[in-house]
Amino acid sequence: MPSEPANAAPARIPRHLAVIMDGNGRWAERRRRPRIIGHRAGARAVNVCIDFCIERGVQALTLFAFSSENWGRPEDEVGGLMKLFLNALEREVEELDRRGVRVRFIGERERFSDKIRERMAAAERQTERNGALHLTIAASYGGRWDIAQAARSLAQDVAAGRLAPQDIDERLLGARVCLADLPPPDLFIRTGGDTRISNFLLWQLAYTELWFTEALWPELDAAMLQRALDEYAGRERRFGLTGAQIAAQTNETVE
Ligand code: IPE
Ligand code: IPE
Ligand code: MG
Repeated sequence: MPSEPANAAPARIPRHLAVIMDGNGRWAERRRRPRIIGHRAGARAVNVCIDFCIERGVQALTLFAFSSENWGRPEDEVGGLMKLFLNALEREVEELDRRGVRVRFIGERERFSDKIRERMAAAERQTERNGALHLTIAASYGGRWDIAQAARSLAQDVAAGRLAPQDIDERLLGARVCLADLPPPDLFIRTGGDTRISNFLLWQLAYTELWFTEALWPELDAAMLQRALDEYAGRERRFGLTGAQIAAQTNETVE
């Protein structure tokens, strides 16, 4: 992390941005095109978002690409999305690697085909030493699944005699949910006009600043992302404390 010059007010750039990329289907339907065309357009917007994060110094970006519940969509849409996903894995990884992006995936991988799983693992291996941006793709991901898998992993330790139930606390569970090695998201963005979490990062979003826009995901541009960052920079994050306490802390860091 680049250090701040002494006495400078810290630039309020989120370290970690989490995004629900919503509205692809409606973008296509408004053009009387099949929904999959919207997903294709959405894939282009992903690159806009990645470039923006690298330029602005956002260190981690987590994108919700496909939820646990999205498996229930019509077969042709799920099939089309899997093809698109495989294509993206085949075509985009070289360029991401070149740009210094480390790519990882979170979610229930067992539900994907062998081919997709192999490509995911290969992309993670190829980019694991990169540090320009920590990109996480949440695919076949659900916040409830995440918490359940963390609880299961603790239960296995208890059953094996490595852990006592009374020692389980927020810190231990928090260390087993996905993204535990990153700071929690500072800013959450959802496009598409709906103001809900839709089973995204339920644990990790506890104190994240939320920002919503009516714009559909394929319409995303840098100006829109900048508006979200500007609004974030002006917000007071209190984490349950009082405004006066937060002001005192800020003065301490600046002095
Ligand atoms: C988000 O766009 C992408 C996925 C969920 C895979 P949608 O497909 O949900 O688009 P809308 O919300 O129907 O417009
Ligand atoms: C959330 O969008 C999931 C992704 C963007 C991957 P959905 O379109 O699935 O969410 P709902 O159904 O509107 O809540
Ligand atoms: Mg949607």
